[in-house]
Amino acid sequence: MSLPVPDTARDAASLRAAPLLEVRNLVKRFPIGGGLLSRPRGAVQAVTDVSFDVARGETLALVGESGCGKTTTGRCILRLVEPTSGTVCFDGTDLGALDARAMRAMRRRMQLVFQDPYASLNPRMTIGAAIREGLVVHRLAEGAAADARVRALLDEVGLRPEWASRYPHEFSGGQRQRVGIARALAVEPEFIVLDEPVSALDVSVQAQVINLLARLQRDRGLTYLFIAHDLGVVEHLATRVAVMYLGRIVELAPTASLFTRPVMPYTQALLSAIPIPDPAAPRDRIVLAGDPPSPASPPSGCVFHPRCPHPARDAACASIVPPLEAKGTGHEAACLKQPPTAVTPAAQRAAGGSHDPVFSLPAAALRSRGASGTGTRAAGLST
Ligand SMILES: Nc1ncnc2c1ncn2[C@@H]1O[C@H](COP(=O)(O)OP(=O)(O)OP(=O)(O)O)[C@@H](O)[C@H]1O
Ligand code: SF4
Ligand SMILES: [Mg+2]
Repeated sequence: MSLPVPDTARDAASLRAAPLLEVRNLVKRFPIGGGLLSRPRGAVQAVTDVSFDVARGETLALVGESGCGKTTTGRCILRLVEPTSGTVCFDGTDLGALDARAMRAMRRRMQLVFQDPYASLNPRMTIGAAIREGLVVHRLAEGAAADARVRALLDEVGLRPEWASRYPHEFSGGQRQRVGIARALAVEPEFIVLDEPVSALDVSVQAQVINLLARLQRDRGLTYLFIAHDLGVVEHLATRVAVMYLGRIVELAPTASLFTRPVMPYTQALLSAIPIPDPAAPRDRIVLAGDPPSPASPPSGCVFHPRCPHPARDAACASIVPPLEAKGTGHEAACLKQPPTAVTPAAQRAAGGSHDPVFSLPAAALRSRGASGTGTRAAGLST
C-alpha cells in the first residue's frame, strides 16, 4: 500500500499563518517519593524547557526513544497533567488561565488518540456507545441523530455502520484503532494528539491507518501532534519533526530537511536505525554508547554528551547547554559542534573545550535513504 505524500505547498502556506498551538518553555517534573510525612527525594525531569508551534492543518511529529517525555508533553498540552511551568496557547487562548469548566469545553476542540485502543475502550461498552459518549457529554446530538452520527463516523473511518453494536474484543487491532479515531472525531475537534497511534500494529496495518489519518486531515482540515518513537513511521505524514532526548527538543525541522540533512548526532543515530527495505543494502548503523541516562539525574551541559559520537565532542559539551538554534532555513538543532552556532569557539574554549565546531554527517545516517553521507567537513549547513 502506498503512503501519502505531504502537500508541501499547503504546508508552507499554513506555516506562515498564525499557529493553532503555541507551546512555550514547558516544564514538567514528577516528584520522586514523598508523602504526607516525608519530603520528595528528587524529581523526574520529564519535560524541560520545550517550545514549539503547530500551524493549522500541519502535522508536527514528536519523536524520541522510550521515556524521553513525548506522552507527558502531549498530556501537558491537553492539560491532562498540570505543567510545572510554561504556557500552552490554543487558538490564542492561554489554557493555563481557563477554569475547569472552560477547559472541559476547550477539550472538545482538542482530542487524544491512544497507542493502545483496547486499553482505552471499555470492554463492556459497544463501540457505538463508546463513540456516542462524546456526542452526549458535549451535547452535540442525542437520540436518533446521535445514532446516525455514530453510523456516519464508522463509515468515515472504514468500518461497517452495523458494527456499532459489537464489543471491542470482536475487532482486530487496526479496527480498534479506527474506533479510537472515530471516537476522537465524534466531537468535531480541530487538533488531535496522536500518541503512538500505530506502534502496536503490524506494518501493513500501520500504512492503512496512516493513510486514513492523512485522508481525515485533508477532508476535515485537522491539525495533528503525532507522537512516535520511530522516525520511519512519521516520514510520510509529518510536515515537520521535533526530536526529543531526555525531556528536551534537540532538533526541529521540516521533514525533508531532517531526513536529508540531520544535524544533531542523536537524530543521525535515529535515522541510521530505520530498517532498510532492500536486504542487499549495507546495514551500518550508528550504535550509541551506554543506555539513556535517568531523567531523575540528567547529565550536565548537553544531555546527550555521555553518548555522543560527534568527532569534536569535548569538555564544553559537558558544561554548556546548547541552545536550540537555526542551522538552516526553518531547521533548528541543539549542538555546540555543528556550525553555525551562537556559542563562539572562544566561549567553548573558556568552558574547557578543545575542538572548534566542525560539521559532521556520517554516511550511516543517510544510507537507508539511498543517499551518501558527507563525512566530516568544516562547513555550515546549507538547505
Ligand atoms: N505520572 C508519572 N509519575 C512519575 N513519573 C512519570 C509519570 N509519567 C511519566 N513519568 C516519567 O517521565 C518520563 C517521561 O515519560 P513519558 O511517558 O512522557 O515518555 P515517553 O517518551 O512517552 O515514553 P514511551 O515511548 O515509553 O511512551 C519517564 O521517565 C517516565 O517514567
Ligand atoms: S553539543 Fe556536543 S555532546 Fe551535544 S550533540 Fe553536540 S557534539 Fe554532541
Ligand atoms: Mg509515551
